[in-house]
Amino acid sequence: MLGSLFLLWAGVLLLYFLWKTRRPKNFPPGPQPFPIFGNLLQLNLKNPMKDFEKLSERYGKVYSVYFGGRPAVLLHGLQAVKEALMTRGVEFAGRPQGLLVNHVSENKGLVIVNYGPSWKEQRRFALTTLRNFGLGKLSMEERILEETSHLSSYIEKNAGQSLDPQTLFHNAFSNVICAILFGARYNYEDQSFQSLMRTINENTKMFNGPWGMLYDTIPLIRSLPLPFRKAFENRDNVKAFLLTKVAEHKETHVPEQPRDLIDCYLNEIEKRGNDGSSFDEGFMMVFLMDLFAAGTDTSSTTLRVGLLQLMVHPDVQARCHHEIDTVLGEREQVYYEDRHRMPYVQAVIHEVQRYGSIVPLSVFHATTQDTQLLGYSIPKGTTIIPNLSSVLYEEGQWKFPHDFNPSNFLNEEGEFVKPEAFVPFSLGPRMCLGEGLARMELFLFLVTLLRRFQFHWPQDGREPDLTPHYGIVQGPKPYRLRVRLRVRQST
Ligand code: HEM
Ligand SMILES: *[C@@H]1O[C@H](CO)[C@@H](O)[C@H](O)[C@H]1NC(C)=O
Repeated sequence: MLGSLFLLWAGVLLLYFLWKTRRPKNFPPGPQPFPIFGNLLQLNLKNPMKDFEKLSERYGKVYSVYFGGRPAVLLHGLQAVKEALMTRGVEFAGRPQGLLVNHVSENKGLVIVNYGPSWKEQRRFALTTLRNFGLGKLSMEERILEETSHLSSYIEKNAGQSLDPQTLFHNAFSNVICAILFGARYNYEDQSFQSLMRTINENTKMFNGPWGMLYDTIPLIRSLPLPFRKAFENRDNVKAFLLTKVAEHKETHVPEQPRDLIDCYLNEIEKRGNDGSSFDEGFMMVFLMDLFAAGTDTSSTTLRVGLLQLMVHPDVQARCHHEIDTVLGEREQVYYEDRHRMPYVQAVIHEVQRYGSIVPLSVFHATTQDTQLLGYSIPKGTTIIPNLSSVLYEEGQWKFPHDFNPSNFLNEEGEFVKPEAFVPFSLGPRMCLGEGLARMELFLFLVTLLRRFQFHWPQDGREPDLTPHYGIVQGPKPYRLRVRLRVRQST
């Protein structure tokens, strides 16, 4: 009796889950999901890239997989990505909700907030303020150049030895963000600041790691004392640090003379008063954290990929040296203006971004209403995964889709050109908000370093390994490089 009751119950449950993981009508095709787990058991969760590649070969430009009971639609190639993120931009401008990352960020900030009035206000404010002169007296370029000169002297002191660029670059790029947010920088050896940075990184990893996935798929376990609790603790630590910065700012703040982003944000809160907008200190906290999380690892990983490529391709490095010396002549300092006369360096930086594909699957989107894509129907709230790598490597879009080759960005005359399929910052209304800053950083950092140094692979028996380490932000495995001070022939 009890046995058959149990069987009945199990049967009903199975039917329920089968029904829950049934594809909606005219939904993009994909592998048959299992109840509860969806397609998770069919994927290698440590590095699902290979499995996904097979799926796209089989199902085409738009297909779907189930993460637990949640379907996600993957977009492969420029046509599908552009159609969704640009042509139907607003319909695809949401973010998935109800996940660990939403709960940790309290649905505030910039990166993870869903499409709506708060996101629009915060994004507009961020874009205006981050523009070159929105931040008071010191321009963005001056803030970056200050850091490139610190980095350059640090490396010079260590010339001749081998260096691990990972932590070093990470510190340098977070210093740029610190300069923008609160006008301070930290020594590369500063332990307390490094542990703060580790905390932010740990959270980013947690969100797409196995514990994050469990939290996202099985709501029942969310209140249990499992490792994902750490994400909330980490957030509170970062918040406490930022709160002291905000408190200091309030004491010394002169509304007419904003010094940095915190000052600008305080002004905005004041200006808005109680107009019902999203500007308040709670929002500001997550806003600031988001800029750290989005702006540090991405840029520093790009530079790390770049130097690795320049060591693997010494001919490319030599051509950069030559162009930089020719354009700068006797001048030591580079300016962002100089990029117009450095088409080859520009092409190299873009090729590093293309070939490196640092944010391979963008940040996940979600549909904001029921919509259509290339003939399929996609309901409101469906997770959308734009595969940026698939565009950056797409055959037919590039002269050399599968090789590292700066010619991908040069025309017959040796001028810099940017093909439409260059999408490392994604596309549409949600496109990377820090693109302008990132470009300026990459150019100024790379040229400053190449002006003074030559980089080469240490002769320690290991070979350069270019296979990326899978993650939201993917980069090469840790490596060491050797630096030689350049003796410049005066021109
Ligand atoms: C090479 C460096 C960088 C790359 C490759 C990169 C790439 C991306 C990508 C792919 C997205 C997702 C866009 C989408 O959802 O469709 C994104 C979003 C974002 N990025 Fe960047 N990023 C970089 C640097 C930065 C920097 C320096 C900042 C800081 C100011 C920044 C701030 C943001 C923000 C705030 C968002 C969220 C925008 C939104 O949801 O509306 N990024 N980035
Ligand atoms: C994205 O596209 C790349 C290049 O085609 C492929 O190797 C990768 O497996 C794809 N990833 C996903 C998640 O579809």
